[in-house]
Formats: sequence, structure tokens, C-alpha cells
Amino acid sequence: MKVAVFASGNGSNFEALANYFQNRSDIEIVILFSDQPNCYALKRAQKSGIPSESFSPKNFSEKKQFEEAINQLMKKYQVEWIFLAGYMRMIGPTLLEPFRNRIVNIHPSLLPKYPGKNSIRRAYDAKEKQTGVTIHLVDEGMDSGPILKQETVEIFPEDTLENLEERVHQTEHSLYPQVVETLILRKQTKENV
Ligand code: GRF
Repeated sequence: MKVAVFASGNGSNFEALANYFQNRSDIEIVILFSDQPNCYALKRAQKSGIPSESFSPKNFSEKKQFEEAINQLMKKYQVEWIFLAGYMRMIGPTLLEPFRNRIVNIHPSLLPKYPGKNSIRRAYDAKEKQTGVTIHLVDEGMDSGPILKQETVEIFPEDTLENLEERVHQTEHSLYPQVVETLILRKQTKENV
């Protein structure tokens, strides 16, 4: 199964996926796509030997054209699943329709709490006792769509924002590859029955 990862920034989740699936023939990350041509995720792709492509929506007159170009790219690499890993852009209908129920996102909160940006900080500032990580299918909304898996991360009274962020990211890095694997292998088994 050929899959794509989309990222806009640091790319630590991309790297966790790349490490987990390296040397696997059943699940292969064939392309990293980024909408941010200078982001660090692209450097990580280079290091791990995974092809990457990047173009900005600024170079297109409309989102539709931008997403059509992404669709072309997906066709070129025969991508069947898209995994968003810090991709900071809403998916529009042009990309969503051909990949309906095959685009997955990871979010650093226990959705539906704290969708959108700065979710870890907002949970910390609200003095929550717990936050966590959610992996969900992507729909038209922002961090909405059916939840596939959640894992709780405790917030301790002595936590700084930095060490809470670190624990949330560690949880992401171990959870995302496992969920990707289960999802794809389960789907394949069902389709083969
Ligand atoms: C992660 O916290 C992810 O859940 C969110 O954006 C962040 C991306 O981090 N959607 P990285 O780029 O993978 O390091």
C-alpha cells in the first residue's frame, strides 16, 4: 500500500512514521508533500531518502487548482492513503472527494476539546488535569471527522508547558504509526474477504 504524508512544519511525526515503516513492503511512504517549501519536514524527508515535493497555494489562483495539482501528484505516486502530520491547511472538496475516508489527521488534544491551533497550550492554561492525542478521519470541518483512536496524557501540577508538550509529542510519535498500520492492514483484510 502506497501512502503519502503531508506536513507544513517541523515534521517530527513524519519522521516517526518514516522510521517505523522503513524497509516495509506492505506499507510504503512514497511521498512527503508540503505546502511550505522551506519547512524542516522536507529536510527530514531528504535525510530518510523519501521523495518529497512542495508547492505553495500562493502560486495558484484558487484552492481548487492547488488541490488539483496535489491530486496529480498523488496519481503520479499511486497514493491510496494520505496521512496529515502537522499539515496546517483545511482539505477542500477537490482533494477530499477522491480520498474520502482515506485522509487521516493527528491532533494534540482530546477532541472535540481544543480543536485548531495551540491546543496543548490551551489545555495547559485551562489547568486541565488531562489532555491527549486524537487520530481521526478528515472531513470538511476543522479537526472534526470520526475518531479512530485517542490516548490520554496526564497533566501534573509540576508540569511546565515544555515538558507537557514533549510528552504529548512522544505519545503522538508512538501512537500514529501503530494506528496507520492497524487501519491499513485491517482495511486490506476486509477488502480481501
Ligand atoms: C503535532 O502536534 C500534530 O498533532 C499537529 O501538529 C503538530 C505537528 O508536529 N497536527 P510535527 O510537525 O509533526 O513535529
